[in-house]
Amino acid sequence: MADASGNKIAKNFYTDVPAKSEGFYLKGLNGYDWGVKDRMTRMFNKKSGHTVMLAFDHGYIMGPTAGLERMDITVTPLVEYADVLMCTRGALRSCIPADSNKPVALRCTTGATLLNELSYECLGVDIQDAVRLNASAMAVQVFCGAQYEHNSLQNLAQAIDNGVRFGLPTLGVTAVGKDMVRDARYLGLATRVCAEIGCQFVKTYYCENFEEVTAGCPVPIVIAGGKKLPENEALELCFNAIRDGAAGVDMGRNIFQAESPCAMIQAVREIVHNGATAAQAFEMYQDLKK
Ligand code: R5P
Repeated sequence: MADASGNKIAKNFYTDVPAKSEGFYLKGLNGYDWGVKDRMTRMFNKKSGHTVMLAFDHGYIMGPTAGLERMDITVTPLVEYADVLMCTRGALRSCIPADSNKPVALRCTTGATLLNELSYECLGVDIQDAVRLNASAMAVQVFCGAQYEHNSLQNLAQAIDNGVRFGLPTLGVTAVGKDMVRDARYLGLATRVCAEIGCQFVKTYYCENFEEVTAGCPVPIVIAGGKKLPENEALELCFNAIRDGAAGVDMGRNIFQAESPCAMIQAVREIVHNGATAAQAFEMYQDLKK
């Protein structure tokens, strides 16, 4: 047998069954199609299986948060160290150079501010705009146990339905309301609900017995940093989360409010991707800060 140019073709070239595709490297995502896997691979390092997401979407409910008053000045130097940028489309278009070439987890819910009931949100970004921005994921907040739990779960389901149509993963973000206890029982429930609804990865908070939360969630979990801590404590939090099964961090205030944000994000990377201990990462932070 020969091809159009006369080159010999092995007999079995057309008949052999293609090599069996390997299991996908990220937890629970083997059943998805090529677009979803490709976008997840852009966000999660294939070698470590982890990600360092830089969260600076706080303004969407909080206005000009400390450290984010001038995102063009404070966020831009951090971009090169982040694996993923998590922000609103307003921040992206107005402050982030389009040639940054970073995957984006686009904040897609809106409808409330700190001045009102936070759980009263809706989907505020059309999927077409997310695609136009070349987003790698849509981030949708859910408020389990809050007044508008139902609406927020509906937002998540709708985003996932839209997302799978376009091969665009959805990040379920488990918000913690004023009256919610941040324990493994609550966060385990919230993360599992997000995964069962169909999101491809989940963002939550670290807590005691966090390994129960990661074990009960069939897709990757990334943790938020929460309120600003001393740098060594934030690195400890990061180390503990990875040790207990988190697939990465989606950190904001503990990076952009650090004394040296560029040093801090590099120290976080050392834990998330290179297995450094909190003490080693803190030493690195101090060296870089100099
Ligand atoms: C809050 O509005 C956002 O969801 C943040 O992206 C999230 O809380 C992570 O940021 P931080 O590490 O500052 O908690």
